[in-house]
Amino acid sequence: MVNSKAFDTMLLLYLSFVFLLPCDVLGFGYVPVSNSNPRSCNITSIYQLGDSLSDTGNLIIESPNGVASAFARLPYGESFFKHPTGRCSDGLLMIDFMAKALNIPRLNPYLNRDALFNHGVNFAVAGATALPVEFLADKNIVNPLTNSSLSVQLDWMWSHFNSICYDGQDCAAKLKCALFIVGDIGSHDYYYAFSQGKRMEDVNNMVIDVVEAIIEGITRVIQIGGTKIIVPGSFPLGQFPAYLTARQANNSTTLRKQRLLYNLSLHHNDELKKRLQMLKRDYKNITIIYVDYHNAFDRLMENAPRFGFNGASDLRKACCGVGGRFSFNPSRLCGAAGVPVCTNPDGYVMWDGFNLTQKAYRILARWLFRSVQQLCI
Ligand SMILES: *[C@@H]1O[C@H](CO)[C@@H](O)[C@H](O)[C@H]1NC(C)=O
Ligand SMILES: *[C@@H]1O[C@H](CO)[C@@H](O)[C@H](O)[C@H]1NC(C)=O
Ligand SMILES: *[C@@H]1O[C@H](CO)[C@@H](O)[C@H](O)[C@H]1NC(C)=O
Ligand SMILES: *[C@@H]1O[C@H](CO)[C@@H](O)[C@H](O)[C@H]1NC(C)=O
Ligand SMILES: *[C@@H]1O[C@H](CO)[C@@H](O)[C@H](O)[C@H]1NC(C)=O
Ligand SMILES: *[C@@H]1O[C@H](CO)[C@@H](O)[C@H](O)[C@H]1NC(C)=O
Ligand SMILES: *[C@@H]1O[C@H](CO)[C@@H](O)[C@H](O)[C@H]1NC(C)=O
Repeated sequence: MVNSKAFDTMLLLYLSFVFLLPCDVLGFGYVPVSNSNPRSCNITSIYQLGDSLSDTGNLIIESPNGVASAFARLPYGESFFKHPTGRCSDGLLMIDFMAKALNIPRLNPYLNRDALFNHGVNFAVAGATALPVEFLADKNIVNPLTNSSLSVQLDWMWSHFNSICYDGQDCAAKLKCALFIVGDIGSHDYYYAFSQGKRMEDVNNMVIDVVEAIIEGITRVIQIGGTKIIVPGSFPLGQFPAYLTARQANNSTTLRKQRLLYNLSLHHNDELKKRLQMLKRDYKNITIIYVDYHNAFDRLMENAPRFGFNGASDLRKACCGVGGRFSFNPSRLCGAAGVPVCTNPDGYVMWDGFNLTQKAYRILARWLFRSVQQLCI
């Protein structure tokens, strides 16, 4: 196993080389602003909204559903904490690495009432949707895991700032050097719709509503006083073991669904980028940065051997899981009794069929951090 400091150094060297190439080589879709100005502001706090990609413990505090979920048990957390924390991975998430890069402590989950929130709050809840549960209920879509959709998380954020600011002006001053990350969120809206039998056209039509919910969320963040906002797009869900397994089964229904999921994440991202452009025109003094997870994930897979991930046959396999070419069986998920875990999670991109390993998140976070550095210009 490569020692982590050596690995970080290696990675930095590699990335500093890569970043001499045109910026979009890593798929972020942004052009760096050339500048010689000193930094006007250092980020001192982060506020995160989202789902399982970012939850650092809210779901497992929130409800009996959360307590019963696999994320509340080992092997979740085994590589870093040696105990489960509610993170949907073997260790740290992108948001943890981001905090580290900014020299601030890891974000505590909002629902941990005893926690300190001096450097920000994590409002993300695993399994959360962008659309409110009432909206989904009208379409007969149920979220089996949590009711804490984006709008609920924004209500939490609102009351948090109500409790720490005297007034709007005070909040604006406090938030001058705060970073807000809105998402990734929305993939569960589509996933629940699919798995609950919605037709493809119906799911496709949801994109407008989901993106609208995200844009409304960003607008609320701006009203609260946020001025530096990162908005990640969706991962290519059709590439994950759970969906690849469906393809391998040659089940034409799931195959069609999987293709649509891939298209759907592209459609979602295109719509999101379009709406963000409009938002930027309306709020010229707010920095809003779109981060292209879709492309970043593809680049990660293409360059996987250079980062020390195991070779071809393991590349799309889950570290924790069992069955088939991708170590995934929907009825024997990671965390269930008797489901094996690989001995070296750092050799894998995929942790459990749906979520990535700490090592994959560490690499993606470096790239994410590049876009944050623009905010400091
Ligand atoms: C930001 O941090 C750097 C390094 O810690 C420091 O040199 C700089 O003065 C800081 N800038 C501001 C505006 O606080
Ligand atoms: C969501 O809210 C409804 C209505 O209050 C409740 O019946 C349901 O159990 C909740 N679902 C979850 C996952 O908490
Ligand atoms: C599914 O199709 C792939 C090739 O597309 C084939 O290799 C595999 O054996 C098929 N699986 C089943 C269960 O038929
Ligand atoms: C295909 O998968 C769907 C959903 O998983 C299932 O309902 C259906 O019975 C499967 N069809 C076949 C032919 O296996
Ligand atoms: C996905 O998009 C491609 C290109 O736009 C299209 O040809 C294909 O039919 C779409 N697939 C599905 C399942 O909608
Ligand atoms: C941004 O501009 C709007 C008006 O265009 C103003 O009301 C708001 O206070 C400004 N915000 C900041 C942080 O400067
Ligand atoms: C992480 O995995 C869990 C199930 O194991 C799933 O509910 C969740 O949606 C996954 N997260 C993502 C981002 O796919």
